[in-house]
Amino acid sequence: MIYLDNAATSHPKPPSVYKRVDAVLRNCSANPGRSGHAMAIEAARIIFQTRESIATLFRIHDPDRIVFTSNATGALNLAILGLLKPGDHCVTSNVEHNSVVRPLHALSQIGLTVSRVAPTPQAFADAICGRTRLVVITHASNVIGAITPIAEIIAIAHARGVPVLVDAAQTAGSVPIDVASLGVDLLACPGHKGLFGPQGTGFLYIAPHIDVEPILFGGTGSRSDLEDMPDFAPDRYEAGTLNTPGIAGLGAGVEFLIDRGIENVRAHETALLHQLMDGLAAIDGVRIYGPLDPNRKTGVVLFTIDGIDPAEIGDQLDSEFGIAVRVGLHCAPQAHRALGTFPEGGVRISPGCFNTADDIQQAVGAVRQIVKRRSAVLA
Ligand SMILES: Cc1ncc(COP(=O)(O)O)c(C=O)c1O
Repeated sequence: MIYLDNAATSHPKPPSVYKRVDAVLRNCSANPGRSGHAMAIEAARIIFQTRESIATLFRIHDPDRIVFTSNATGALNLAILGLLKPGDHCVTSNVEHNSVVRPLHALSQIGLTVSRVAPTPQAFADAICGRTRLVVITHASNVIGAITPIAEIIAIAHARGVPVLVDAAQTAGSVPIDVASLGVDLLACPGHKGLFGPQGTGFLYIAPHIDVEPILFGGTGSRSDLEDMPDFAPDRYEAGTLNTPGIAGLGAGVEFLIDRGIENVRAHETALLHQLMDGLAAIDGVRIYGPLDPNRKTGVVLFTIDGIDPAEIGDQLDSEFGIAVRVGLHCAPQAHRALGTFPEGGVRISPGCFNTADDIQQAVGAVRQIVKRRSAVLA
């Protein structure tokens, strides 16, 4: 099988991730931060080590401001539901994932006002007003891969005193993100995509000056005498037993990236994107959406073929050619509406760090054959 669905979740993982998860499950499955015995202390140390590695990769000063969640959705919900209240105003883009759209929509039912604008600095500048409490922006569209100019949008928001939540689901691990110099206030990341952690991992970075209310309440192993959640991060937001094996695996994934260098990962993905877009563009009837310059996008290519349903293309790629891609709306219906590909959506090919030029050649060849066969039927 050729796996080209890395925008959904990465596969395979670096060998060190499998090893670390296995070792922790076998040897260190105690509850971190709860009991005082040696194995529990070791589990807590492993969790802290992952926080430190993440802090190094993203240039975050204080690792304790990194809160583990189950995925990017958990991180986005914590930031959005923990910050916004009825009567507030929020500015976001019209290409967001449902993990942003749906919590904002839920809050809009009880009095939040939401402006959805194009992902450009000017559109954000025009939409921010005196009541704006938060800007939420994806760092890259999961539908077409277009990278958003977050530095400019953050500067505009900060000039008006508004904090910014960046959804880095499609960029964490493949585009360098320097939290300190960008001044990111909140950064939501999945652990299981470009950071190579297992599924069930993710995190939210909360800058020290941002006061987020917890949305999950329960045991933390700290300040157990209180009925209130502890008032310090990360415990304030991490109720319940953490996913120690998953977080350990995430740590190994992040260490792999630090070792290899994000620039090298990006250069490899950019070369594959070049090859993929050139190959697809040469096939009659194939339409590619989004930027054609690989330097302006992440590892995502969306295309349609005139006269063939995307679902049918995905089925044929999978069942006949053994190629895994994702078709449909990619949990981002607004982005597809803006592209004119709603409601059928499109076919998304998303190469990753471990794909090769041969994988891309086979994918392009398969699409060519699908088109050829359809033309023969119609002739
Ligand atoms: C832009 C974007 N935001 C959020 C998410 C949600 O990520 P998760 O599946 O980790 O919750 C995704 C997942 O594809 C995404 O692409």
